[in-house]
Amino acid sequence: MSIIILSIESSCDETSASILKDGEVLSNIVATQDVHKEFGGVVPELASRAHQQNIVPVVDKALIEAGVSKEYLSAIAFTRGPGLLGALIVGTSFAKALSLGLDIPLIEVNHMQAHILAHFIDEPKPKFPFLCLTVSGGHTQIVLVKSYLKMEVIGQTIDDAAGEAFDKSAKLLGMDYPGGPMIDKHAKLGNSNRFKFAKSRISGYDYSFSGVKTSFLYFLKKEIKENPKFIEENINDLAASIQKNIVEVLVDKLEKAASDHNITEIAIAGGVSANSGLREHITNVADKNNWQTYFPALEYCTDNAAMIAVAGYYKFKENDFVGLDVTPLARMPLS
Ligand code: KG4
Ligand code: ZN
Repeated sequence: MSIIILSIESSCDETSASILKDGEVLSNIVATQDVHKEFGGVVPELASRAHQQNIVPVVDKALIEAGVSKEYLSAIAFTRGPGLLGALIVGTSFAKALSLGLDIPLIEVNHMQAHILAHFIDEPKPKFPFLCLTVSGGHTQIVLVKSYLKMEVIGQTIDDAAGEAFDKSAKLLGMDYPGGPMIDKHAKLGNSNRFKFAKSRISGYDYSFSGVKTSFLYFLKKEIKENPKFIEENINDLAASIQKNIVEVLVDKLEKAASDHNITEIAIAGGVSANSGLREHITNVADKNNWQTYFPALEYCTDNAAMIAVAGYYKFKENDFVGLDVTPLARMPLS
């Protein structure tokens, strides 16, 4: 019999639902919340309200696009955490209600694990064990992936996430939230060696990005004092230089982790993996180290429910279900 999973993602500012049949994505509907734009960041209360508005139409659309009716669902998978608590409560409550109404099992999914399992949607798929650099607006982790569900975080940020570093730098340059994609766009036209900023220097595989942001802020303040038009006149070089700084820090640690663990299968996940500078730098480093690198399709890099469904599928096969007393977790360790 086929395994058909409906999945729900509501951890941050995307309301998403997907239908997966025997590991194949039949639909993946993502409603992005635009209400946060004018505030320069995600406003948790507004996110929860928008999830509440979006969730029923998004789930309906996912079922219609997949051509699947509710009675045929095998299970419901939902993001339990990590994320914004109020936002997670909407998806969790919806999933619980549907599981009760349809009398089908409920599967909790860790959002960070799902970002990694997005690599198992399309070909080519990484081979175990592999290292995954998960870089998003909320997280930056190097994960040793031993099997579909056995993963170990070996390095992570001690302060800002890489996406946050991009977004905060973009904000200093006067760009709208989330500014990561705009930095990428301007960086393509700029000279990345023009400006140098402090690089984070912490030991091991952990990251720190708060110092880079501060160094960038003071640099800009000083230059603007001398030339109020400094940013607009140098926007491309500024974007290219700050992008280079963040990307090099990310890849240096990944290279060290790969070498120490003797691993050449390298996967990149999360919204920041869309960054073209990161892709280019990793490709160069991969050539040098004989890495096989894996980037999921862009639609599966940013937050989406298809990745939640894939995680749900592997958990379904292990009969890994939860009861209706499950509650969301703002912080949820990977393993
Ligand atoms: O994984 P994601 O969609 O959501 C979270 O779980 O956080 O990642 C969103 C992050 C934002 O910080 C956004 O600015 C960043 O990914 N991002 C980028 C690019 N596309 C998205 N950062 C740099 N360059 C990009 N092309
Ligand atoms: Zn995410």
